[in-house]
Amino acid sequence: METTLWINARLAPHADPATLVESASIVTQGSHIAWLGPTHQLPVAFRQAATATHDLGGAIVTPGLVDCHTHLVYGGNRAEEFALRLAGASYEDIAKRGGGIISTVRATREATEDELFQAALRRLDALRSEGVTAIEIKSGYGLDLDTERKMLRVARRLGRARPITVSTTFLGAHALPPEYTGRANDYIDLVCNTMLPALVEEKLVDAVDVFCEGIGFDLAQSERVFQAAQRFGLPVKMHAEQLSLLGGAALSARYAALSADHLEFLDEAGVIAMRQAGTVAVLLPGAYYFIRETQLPPLNLLRKHGVPIAISTDSNPGTSPTTSLLLMLNMACTLFRMSVAEVLAGVTTNAARALGHPDVTGRLTVGDKADFVAWNIESLAELAYFSGLPRCQLVVRHGATAYRA
Ligand code: NIG
Ligand code: FE
Repeated sequence: METTLWINARLAPHADPATLVESASIVTQGSHIAWLGPTHQLPVAFRQAATATHDLGGAIVTPGLVDCHTHLVYGGNRAEEFALRLAGASYEDIAKRGGGIISTVRATREATEDELFQAALRRLDALRSEGVTAIEIKSGYGLDLDTERKMLRVARRLGRARPITVSTTFLGAHALPPEYTGRANDYIDLVCNTMLPALVEEKLVDAVDVFCEGIGFDLAQSERVFQAAQRFGLPVKMHAEQLSLLGGAALSARYAALSADHLEFLDEAGVIAMRQAGTVAVLLPGAYYFIRETQLPPLNLLRKHGVPIAISTDSNPGTSPTTSLLLMLNMACTLFRMSVAEVLAGVTTNAARALGHPDVTGRLTVGDKADFVAWNIESLAELAYFSGLPRCQLVVRHGATAYRA
């Protein structure tokens, strides 16, 4: 196995500004971290075994970033709808008029697998250029078996085309397709009894998500989807309490969900349930910003009860058309008043927990996969402070260079 030294780093193994290790090195063997710490303590055996040495030039090194909630694969875009919203229509108004998610469903059904792949690849590369080494990608713009399959196949293909870990999530219960108008329960039958089993059989599903909302699915329907996931031993997650409080987060906790996401309208009972279940709160400042939400997620309750908080792009054409996870750090600080330490944990350890992928820990410790980023910054706060400025110098994923500025 190749032994490689990565020397001259300022190491932030937990992306924590309080614990920076100066003049540090990382030793990788194959895809794993074999050692890390202050260079003067580097064991001689590793020095002798090394077949390559890379000087990181004093760069700050953090774990690779994890984007744990994205809808990266979709056809078309919704710039026209954005213009309508600017003229006064609300997100819910547009959805009720057959726009919104359903307009992306039309475009996604029409697109070929290759077209979806090429469009998503550009978005993926934008995220990679900011140090993202693991990402979740949801289906949910197909709402029929063939198109959901097409989306998930594209997600898998993205993970083969680029050095990045992709976790797939089946979001068949994202919206009611027009052909099922007035028959939501029948559609949930299709999701649970036809779509999910077929997609699991094809090994396309790592987790299952539901949009539990007035314009999505109710609690009983959401629970049926969770039960179907459970039959296949798949972890669940939920778009919960985004536009109203339905109790989806508490339901998610009952199913030991990896995460409940959005959560602007979450109440204390839901927070407590999440804490007890170990369910991560995934906050999505891009969506909060883009739909001009005014209800803030209950940060103080999440803190008070010690619920782990992750931050993600929610990259999607309707509510968060962004491919910048670093911008989300900035927004989480400015809009949600989160601290730099909180938002950095939110895109590393806590996001990894929400992702639930065995290869992804969101931290740098011996035995973990070597996924790390060398940044052209003086302090970790700069990651959340600047927007637009390229700061990512080098990305290593599974021990190999995955991106270089
Ligand atoms: O995460 N809330 C539902 N799903 C997406 C939006 C999807 C869309 O509008 O296309 C979200 O915000
Ligand atoms: Fe989403």
